[in-house]
Amino acid sequence: MKNQLTANQLRQKYIDFFVSKDHVQISGASLIPENDPTVLFTTAGMHPLVPYILGSDHPSGKRLTNYQKCIRTGDIEAVGDPHHLTFFEMLGNWSLGDYFKKEAIAFSYEFLTKVLEIDPSQLSVTVFEGDDLVPRDEIASSAWMSHGIPQERIYFLPREDNWWGPAGETGPCGPDSEMFIDTGRKACGDDCRPGCSCGKYFEIWNDVFMGYKKNADGTYSEMERKCVDTGMGIERTIAILQGKKSVYETEIFTPVIAGIEKLSGKTYGNDEETDISIRILADHVRTSVFILGDPKGMAPSNVGQGYILRRLIRRAVRHGHKLGIEGSFLGELATIVLGLYAQPYPELEENKEFIFKELAAEETKFSETLQKGEREFEKMLPNLLKGTSRQLSGRTAFKLYDTYGFPVELTRELANEHGFSVDEEGFKAAFEKHQEISRSGAEHQFKGGLADHSDKTTALHTATHMLHKALRTVLGEHVGQKGSNITVDRLRFDFTHPSPMSKEEIQQVEDMVNEQIARNLPITVESMTLEQAKEAGAIAFFESKYGEQVKVYSIGDYSKEVCGGPHVENTSSMGHFKILKEQSSSAGIRRIKAILE
Ligand code: ALA
Repeated sequence: MKNQLTANQLRQKYIDFFVSKDHVQISGASLIPENDPTVLFTTAGMHPLVPYILGSDHPSGKRLTNYQKCIRTGDIEAVGDPHHLTFFEMLGNWSLGDYFKKEAIAFSYEFLTKVLEIDPSQLSVTVFEGDDLVPRDEIASSAWMSHGIPQERIYFLPREDNWWGPAGETGPCGPDSEMFIDTGRKACGDDCRPGCSCGKYFEIWNDVFMGYKKNADGTYSEMERKCVDTGMGIERTIAILQGKKSVYETEIFTPVIAGIEKLSGKTYGNDEETDISIRILADHVRTSVFILGDPKGMAPSNVGQGYILRRLIRRAVRHGHKLGIEGSFLGELATIVLGLYAQPYPELEENKEFIFKELAAEETKFSETLQKGEREFEKMLPNLLKGTSRQLSGRTAFKLYDTYGFPVELTRELANEHGFSVDEEGFKAAFEKHQEISRSGAEHQFKGGLADHSDKTTALHTATHMLHKALRTVLGEHVGQKGSNITVDRLRFDFTHPSPMSKEEIQQVEDMVNEQIARNLPITVESMTLEQAKEAGAIAFFESKYGEQVKVYSIGDYSKEVCGGPHVENTSSMGHFKILKEQSSSAGIRRIKAILE
């Protein structure tokens, strides 16, 4: 490639290009999705934009661009090979009912060939071949041809290849067109084509033509206002631009890997088993830093995002020990990650203390038992090897979990290394006996989610704002939102407060919300800059960029908060607010579960 861009350069060039095409740069969102209980983490740039793709007006307009931090946890265990990552950055541009296929493809082609200077003869694309629901995408195909991509490099592929979304269980989705670079390697066979995993074709970008909405019952509805959503992964793209075989050889990983080499005395690139451990450690530290350093940063725990974080840290610790690193080491590696991302992600620096404190606490806690657990496992091995079954019992896996804090996924990995599998069902049964199954780190928690803007979830969202205000009135202004999660049945609200609430305080908050509901307050929305919103007295927890347009929702004269919506029109439709539970979420953070009845 002629243009060997670094991650920082690519990020900037992408944003500059789309700004020059009348797009407004918006901030990336938190890694923890707001009000989408169907997934744990933000998985794509479009994820936080779902409400706008579904029809609400975005305060920054109809053409948007940004870079978004994403986590995909589906294959944590696949990390270790040269390609998989749990955290990655996605560049994107969006049309919200503005341009569609032809213009999106023209932008993509211009950026790839003029800005990245990719030779057009190296480009291949795929488009949707059509099925019962959606016709063959002749429009996308002719758009590509109009730029000179010959027919033989335009591949029509089925839904399993050329359909994207939704991000969670429900929401916007549609046929897509993917762009590939031919690496020049030999094809693996006659039917090798873009999408084949042999390594000849490298996917660089995806233009999704969002014309459909998947509903909770599994059906699709056509959207009247069509949108475009695109996504380019930064790590993968710079690897190909720089002619590197792996993302781990680019400048976003080499300093971390050098740190691991220094700590362990091992060298990367000599021995496959060592390399696997180095890559796992490098990836997992980076992802952990981003989860901890998020504005809605989570601490390790046994539920939800906290459980994923715990798995990542513990797996990183185990592989660090496997590499022979002694003492604590995560902090040193986290410092390197922080240095690499200080400019694009200032939140990491702001939350530095929390990152280091939580990393060190989890590392210490687990290191103490890791060795004992591994020794326990080694002790069992001779007996296990004597038996005919190559399966570790659920009870043993549970013991390693319960006594030594081994997430079952780690036990599975340890077992696999010795040629064993784990009786997962047996583990689950043993686990359920001791805990409620709902506390497991399920990836998909509930049906529904953000895209299901039912009256019930919308009302609960309005109730969340009122609860927030009431808590600040009763407990004090130190109360700030740390997380919100809404299902059709209840709201869940995490907030900063140092001690359990008293019965009286809970009652006071509940009464206050009900009094305000009874005033039949209208809900109104205005767009303004973040600074104007703050001046107007709006609560704004998740910071946006300076000067960026935001939406401010007012509930009568009671509450004013920066938020994407949606909300009910008037509190009169909400019903009676009731707090079911007030409990600890993590240190310094309380959690309330409440309903409308
Ligand atoms: N949302 C699309 C993707 O993740 C662009 O590929």
